[in-house]
Amino acid sequence: MAAKPAKNRKKSSASANPMWGGHFARGPAQAMAAINPSIGFDKKLYAEDIAGSLAHAAMLVKQGILTREDGRAIEAGLKKIRKEIESGNFAFRESLEDIHMNIEARLRELIGDAAGRLHTARSRNDQVAVDFRLWVRSACDALDAKLRALQAALLAQAEAHAATIMPGFTHLQVAQPVTFGHHLMAYVEMFGRDRGRVVDARARMNECPLGAAALAGTSFPTDRRMTAKALGFDAPTRNSMDSVSDRDFALEFLSLASICAVHLSRLAEEMVIWTSAQFRFVRLSDGFTTGSSIMPQKRNPDAAELIRGKSGRVTGALVSLLTTMKGLPLTYSKDMQEDKEPVFDAAETLLLCVTAMTGMVEDMKANADAMRAAAETGYSTATDLADWLVRVCGIPFRDAHHITGQAVKKAEKKTCRLDELTLAELQAVDARITKDVFDVLSVEHSVKSRTSLGGTAPKRVREAIKAAKERWL
Ligand code: ARG
Repeated sequence: MAAKPAKNRKKSSASANPMWGGHFARGPAQAMAAINPSIGFDKKLYAEDIAGSLAHAAMLVKQGILTREDGRAIEAGLKKIRKEIESGNFAFRESLEDIHMNIEARLRELIGDAAGRLHTARSRNDQVAVDFRLWVRSACDALDAKLRALQAALLAQAEAHAATIMPGFTHLQVAQPVTFGHHLMAYVEMFGRDRGRVVDARARMNECPLGAAALAGTSFPTDRRMTAKALGFDAPTRNSMDSVSDRDFALEFLSLASICAVHLSRLAEEMVIWTSAQFRFVRLSDGFTTGSSIMPQKRNPDAAELIRGKSGRVTGALVSLLTTMKGLPLTYSKDMQEDKEPVFDAAETLLLCVTAMTGMVEDMKANADAMRAAAETGYSTATDLADWLVRVCGIPFRDAHHITGQAVKKAEKKTCRLDELTLAELQAVDARITKDVFDVLSVEHSVKSRTSLGGTAPKRVREAIKAAKERWL
């Protein structure tokens, strides 16, 4: 059968790429021109790319690889390009694939041949590795600052509600009374660990891959310590092949971002529960809720729901990049161009979620009466009764647990709280019970008595707030 020209293999009339097309007779197929470029998203790396090039050029000059004159022209040209991009006067070209080649091509227009010397002793492989690390490092710093603000908002509410009693839940069933401040402080701990992960990941990623060149290093007498220092890295990376193929730093960022997003999602879920008409524990401000076009009474916790929902995007980004990296042989493969979009999206999504959560927490109003009333349901002081039997009557805890169970049964039958049973009714369950037991059956007493380290007693909560402020703010 005679070969038909395949419709989907239209050749573009574009000529070979000026940056690398020396041995190419013609340009890419249409579909290739569509699948290949990354400029649509990696233009975000322009500032990092220019910073990396400035550091590289300065090093080449100092090492005598580039003349002072060329160095000066490159520096001036790059700074001009930065201004062009920042003022919106830069024409990004898809045909130039990515941010690295867009900037270099413009540099050539501006300064001529000297631009071609900038790429001495480096490759796009180490260039993109350094650009992306710089971007992720900044994202770490931004995340840390935002999480700090969230902790500050939680701490302020915790301080106001160190003694506000609410039910603590297990299985979303009333378990034991706690304070709202104590509950909020649990999140201060979570976001504190998130910040710890940010700091750890940042320290690990802070090594400079620039100068690894394509994969094997370079024969030019470069000074990688100089570029590392200029870009704020602690040291150069140690292995050129690892330098251009490693994306651990992005994976670590997405991992810590995912954990943080899950923490946010749990708090968001609690807000959704707390603001429901059945709970009424918390009222969110107008600024973070929406009404309904049909039901005039509605105040929907949309921001909380979106934070809960967006956690899926962040964890999805982690799975996406893990899957991209899995099974890639050393060193660079174009697959790795797919590393950026998930990271950009996850970082921006997460920063927005932290900001929104901070605002919601700052504005929220706790309904202490509703919380207290709920804390008194569900026989929440049953453990206090069992503990009293152990402490005062010397009854083994297992037996005390059984006796308390019978008292609960009695209260259920009478549809009253435990402290509404009469002494006679309690003594019918166990004769050793005395009227002193009523001292421990109130939710106030219950909360106040939990003075163990890390416990919910208001005194302990206030200490925890003070310590957390010193540690985190
Ligand atoms: N745009 C590419 C990326 O993001 C830059 C590196 C290209 N390197 C290469 N050998 N083609 O990964």
